[in-house]
Amino acid sequence: MQTPLFASVEEVGDRLATAGYLASTAVATTVFLADQLGKPLLVEGPAGVGKTELARALARATGAELIRLQCYEGIDESRALYEWNHAKQLLRITAGRDEGWEQARAHVFSEEFLLARPLLTAIRNTEPTVLLVDETDKADVEMEGLLLEVLGDFQVTVPELGTITAARRPFVLLTSNATRELSEALKRRCLFLHLDFPPAELEREIVRLHVPGLDDTLAESVVRLVGALRGMELRKAPSIAETVDWARTLLALGADTLDESVVEATLGVVLKYQADHRKATAELKLATVLDRTPG
Ligand SMILES: Nc1ncnc2c1ncn2[C@@H]1O[C@H](COP(=O)(O)OP(=O)(O)OP(=O)(O)O)[C@@H](O)[C@H]1O
Ligand SMILES: [Mg+2]
Repeated sequence: MQTPLFASVEEVGDRLATAGYLASTAVATTVFLADQLGKPLLVEGPAGVGKTELARALARATGAELIRLQCYEGIDESRALYEWNHAKQLLRITAGRDEGWEQARAHVFSEEFLLARPLLTAIRNTEPTVLLVDETDKADVEMEGLLLEVLGDFQVTVPELGTITAARRPFVLLTSNATRELSEALKRRCLFLHLDFPPAELEREIVRLHVPGLDDTLAESVVRLVGALRGMELRKAPSIAETVDWARTLLALGADTLDESVVEATLGVVLKYQADHRKATAELKLATVLDRTPG
């Protein structure tokens, strides 16, 4: 067993906050447990709730190197694990024309011709590492098989070179938008964390952290209005990233209240679909007419 990175749940929260990430107790607890148990952490949730940022902040908080495997449709072993540098191998074979096959083979299947991809790089890294497998649900099911193998015992076998075992286990964080269910087998190996839109109080703190110049009352209005928009069954609910962008916009405009005309003029920062824009404007107007906060 490796020495854990954190001694308590509180320490996780504090160090993440210092690294610019405000974690709820639930988030801090799951991170603490993943670290203690040496298990990968699977973080699932809608877009823009801080899944990727959690991995980045963890790396900053622990001084670890962040190695990122960005998943996409069609990603395969040669992009995720390793591949041989065929062009260079060919050149080497051509250059050593008089060499026998045995000799040439020993040469071209050596370290010098190996292109390590994120999974192999993370396993071989002797320094503290956070391995981020981002948007796992975008990869095909075959990729999950590979992840299971690698994350199961933290070793990789390259037939020509032998088995490479992790000298130091990376902290592994997988993210998913849940566009499809990940396999039971993969889930079983991970601790699971569902990240959702934060409670208003936490979101206000996030806004304060990112946009320190913004007036507190205005920050509160932004968060309240974003909360109302999230309750409207829009095609794409605004994420934390959009709340922060909106706050920045208001600061840049020097707005001092979030009145109807300001909202009208800046709603494009938060809502990215015409239909959402129309629906939100109508519902907000109705709310003003009825003199109540929507949502
Ligand atoms: N708890 C938090 N503390 C501070 N900042 C946060 C927090 N959560 C989210 N953010 C901010 O929100 C932004 C969006 O987060 P991030 O990119 O991690 O979202 P995501 O969940 O990975 O979304 P996607 O599914 O679209 O990739 C980050 O750049 C960060 O600035
Ligand atoms: Mg992300």
